[in-house]
Amino acid sequence: MSVERIGKIEEEAAAAIAGAGDTAELEEARVRFLGRKAELTGILRGISDLDPSERGEVGSAANRAREAIEALVAGRAGELEREELGRSLETDRLDVTLPGSPPRPVGHLHPVTRTRRLIEDVLVGLGYRVVEGPEVEHDFYNFTALNHPEGHPARMLQDTFYVEPSEDLDPSCGSGPMDVLLRTHTSPMQVRAMEDSPPPLFVIVPGKTYRRDSDATHSPMFHQVEGLAVGEGLTLADLKGTLLEMLRALFGPDREVRMRPHFFPFTEPSVEFDVSCFRCGGQGELEGGERCGLCKGIGWIELGGAGMVDPNVFGFVSEHGYDPDTVTGFAFGFGVERIAMLRHGMGDLRFLFENDVRMLEQFS
Ligand code: DAH
Repeated sequence: MSVERIGKIEEEAAAAIAGAGDTAELEEARVRFLGRKAELTGILRGISDLDPSERGEVGSAANRAREAIEALVAGRAGELEREELGRSLETDRLDVTLPGSPPRPVGHLHPVTRTRRLIEDVLVGLGYRVVEGPEVEHDFYNFTALNHPEGHPARMLQDTFYVEPSEDLDPSCGSGPMDVLLRTHTSPMQVRAMEDSPPPLFVIVPGKTYRRDSDATHSPMFHQVEGLAVGEGLTLADLKGTLLEMLRALFGPDREVRMRPHFFPFTEPSVEFDVSCFRCGGQGELEGGERCGLCKGIGWIELGGAGMVDPNVFGFVSEHGYDPDTVTGFAFGFGVERIAMLRHGMGDLRFLFENDVRMLEQFS
C-alpha cells in the first residue's frame, strides 16, 4: 500500500468535502472517506499486517490523512451551518408587526391605570403635584412617623409582608427583621414629601400597596391615591370642598360628599368619607320603591379615609419647616380599584387582576 494512494484519497476527500452543497452531502462524504467501510479506514486497520519496514511510513501517512480529512469535514460543517442559517433567516422571516389574521384591534390601558390617571388629572387640576415613593418601605415611614408607635393596635389592621433588611440599611430608620416591609398604604409618602419640600405642600401619591387580605373586594396588592395639603389656616371645610370636587368629577356633577367621624392615628379629627349613591341619587331606593343594591339602601357609598394632619406627624418633620404650632393640613386616602369597580359596575375586584382579555376589552 503506497503512501501515494493515501495522498490521492486525501485529495479526493478534500474535493468531495469542498463540493458538498449541504450538510446531507457532507455527511455522505464523511461516511465515504472516514466511515467503517472507507478505504482509509481499511488501510489503518491493516497496518499491523504490513511488512514492518512499511508500517511506520504508511501508518503515519494514514493517520495524518485521517486527521486532515476530519478537520476539513468540521470546517465545512461550520460553513454549511452558517450558510443554511443565513438562508433560513432570509426565507423564514416573520414580520411580527403585521396585523394578525384575523386582525386584532390595538389594546388599551388597564382599567386601573385609566382610573388612576383620571384621579390624577382631577387633582392636578386642583393644584396638586404627583409624587411617588418606594413600595418596600421602612416601618418608620409606614407606621412610626404616622403616629402609630410600636405596639399601637392600629398596626394590626394593616398586617403586611416583611422583608429581610439589607446590610446597608439607614440606621436612623431602625434595624432588625421587622423594620422593612411592603407598604400597607401610600400615606408614608406624607412624611417623605414633607422631608423633601417645605410648606405650602400639595401632593398626591398614587401607587401600589400591600396587605394580608384576599377576597372579592380585597387583594394582597392594590392601588391607593393619597392626598396631602399643608399650609396655614387649612380647615376641614377645605378638605370637604376638595373631596366634593374630586367625587363630582369621578361620579357626576350631582354628587354630594358625607364625612363620618372615624379614627386614624395620623389625623385628628379623622373621618371616613362617602359619596352619595349615583344609582339611586342618594335616595336608597330605585324608582318603584325597590331597594338600591349598589348602596344597599343607605344612599351613600363609603370611599376612603381623611382628616386633619395630627400635629404629632408634623413633629416628625418639624426641622423641615413644619412647625406643629403654625402649620395645618389635611390628608385623604382611598383605593383606586374601588373607584374603578364602582365606575364600571364590577362586582369582584379579582377580575381586575386575572387579565382575561374578554373582561378587559369591555373597558376600552
Ligand atoms: N392610609 C389609610 C388606609 O390605608 C387611609 C387614610 C386615612 C389616608 C386617613 C389618609 C387619611 O390620608 O388622612 O387605611
